Parts: sequence; structure tokens; C-alpha cells
Amino acid sequence: MLDLTGKNALVTGIANNRSIAWGIAQQLHQAGANLGVTYLPDPKGRFEKKVSELVAPLNPTIFLPCDVQDDAQMDATFATIADKWGKLDILIHCLAFADKEDLSGNFSETSREGFTKALEISAYSLTSLSKRAKSLMSEGGSIVTLSYLGGVKVIPNYNVMGVAKAALEMSVRYLAAELGSENIRVNGISAGPIRTLASSAVGGILDMIRHVEEVAPLRRTVTQLEVGNTAAFLCSDLASGITGQVIYVDSGYEIMGMV
Ligand SMILES: NC(=O)c1ccc[n+]([C@@H]2O[C@H](COP(=O)([O-])OP(=O)(O)OC[C@H]3O[C@@H](n4cnc5c(N)ncnc54)[C@H](O)[C@@H]3O)[C@@H](O)[C@H]2O)c1
Repeated sequence: MLDLTGKNALVTGIANNRSIAWGIAQQLHQAGANLGVTYLPDPKGRFEKKVSELVAPLNPTIFLPCDVQDDAQMDATFATIADKWGKLDILIHCLAFADKEDLSGNFSETSREGFTKALEISAYSLTSLSKRAKSLMSEGGSIVTLSYLGGVKVIPNYNVMGVAKAALEMSVRYLAAELGSENIRVNGISAGPIRTLASSAVGGILDMIRHVEEVAPLRRTVTQLEVGNTAAFLCSDLASGITGQVIYVDSGYEIMGMV
């Protein structure tokens, strides 16, 4: 029943084989979606090479640089989608950034620059990508973003990223309310802690993972592919009645009161 055949899906945020976006891309591909992949360009072209080799087996029909701080790159990405695909069905927003010094220590020390950068890349980018995507979602669509419990409850060291995730989760609701009349659904997945490039910047991430393994109902953390399964579900007709939600894929950790 989970069939994404004939659906065009843009996946942002693949950096390497540990990326949650990579888990999502594999499951969308498995379900039959036609993939487009964007990556964050760097001066030496390392991400471009690494990501293009990684995703090659999934046969993406679009592969482009897209820094969400660069309006021209975002415009070029969606112009290419209009040109090559004509319509977009699925947008996966799976990216975030904060300076490492803002991911440990006292939250009150967060600089104006660090705060603005984290919120722009990690939260505002959902709105700026959705704005560009909506006109191409002529047959309706599904937008999925990635959040974390630290946007709802205080998690040690998550600091400014928690504030960004709070903004992101509220953006999900405002976008869902606005785009619902065009049959575009917007949802978030709040994933449990997973070792990735981004999470390694958060102070004490390994302790967080160990803690989840001890106290979460399932007594383990989740995998990128499990998050990918939920994303594929949310993008499919099986989830046609779900919008504006943040679904926890966290081995049940979020329900626990005494941890
Ligand atoms: N790993 C976890 O424990 C965890 C838990 C819950 C939510 N998340 C969220 O999942 C998402 C993916 O993170 P991940 O853990 O897979 O790490 P990751 O490092 O693999 O992915 C983060 C991605 O963000 C991209 N990015 C950063 N700045 C960008 C910019 N300016 N423009 C475009 N792309 C940019 C990076 O290139 C990278 O591909 C993030 O939103 C993260 O907050 C992660």
C-alpha cells in the first residue's frame, strides 16, 4: 500500500551515509519515488563528490548544490524542478546548523550572530523552501521536516538549536494551516538521538544516546532507516489525513516522566 510511484521527491540534507536524509532517501526510493537531491556546496567540492557517489545507486534525476542561505541557489533548484519534472510532490527538509560554541555551556552566552544563523538555517529555511515548493505542488504534496525533543523540553547543551526547533515546529503548524487548502500537508518527525555529523557538534551526544538506551521504552535508539520509514509513510496516501503534526520516532523516550 505504501506506493510513491510517479511521485517526485526533493531530498535536502544528505552529507554522508550517517545522515538521516540518507535514510529517508533510501526509503523513498524503495517506495518508488523519483528523487532529486541537493547538497551543501563547499569551496573544495568535497560534499559534491561524496554525496554524488553515495546517492548514485538511487538514480537521482536532479542533483544540485543548494545552500539555504543563498536565495539564488534555492531559486535555481526549483527552476530546475519546474523545467525537468514540471511538478513536485514531496519536499524533505532535513538540515540544521549552529556554531559548535553555541551547543554547549550556558545558553545565555549565545551571540546575536550565532542565534540568527542557527534560526535562519535550521528554522527559516523550511519556510523559504516551502514558499518555492508550493507553486510546483500542483497536484497536492507532502512536506516533512526533522525536529528533536530539545525544541519542547530542555536538553543539556542543545541550547540555541532547541530554540530553532521550537520555531521549526511552530512553522510546521502555520505552513500546514496555510497550505492545507491546496492539499499540501506539512509534518515534522521528532527523531531520537542518532550519531551523525550534525549531532556530533552537540556537547555530550554520546551520553544522550546511552541514556535513551537505558530508559526509553524500546531500550534502544532509532536508526536513520526507521526515520525514513516514517517519512515515507507521511509522504504517502496512507497519511492523507495527517497534517501539522510532529510525530516522535524516538523509541518512546518522549512519553517518560521520570528519566
Ligand atoms: N542526529 C540526531 O540525533 C537528530 C535528532 C533529531 C533531529 N535531527 C535533525 O535531523 C536533521 C538532519 O541532521 P543529521 O543528524 O542527519 O545530520 P547531518 O549532518 O547528516 O545533516 C545535516 C545537514 O544539514 C546540511 N546543512 C547545514 N547547513 C546548511 C545550509 N546552509 N544549506 C543547506 N544545507 C545545510 C548539511 O550539509 C547536512 O547535510 C537536522 O534538522 C537535525 O537537527 C537530528
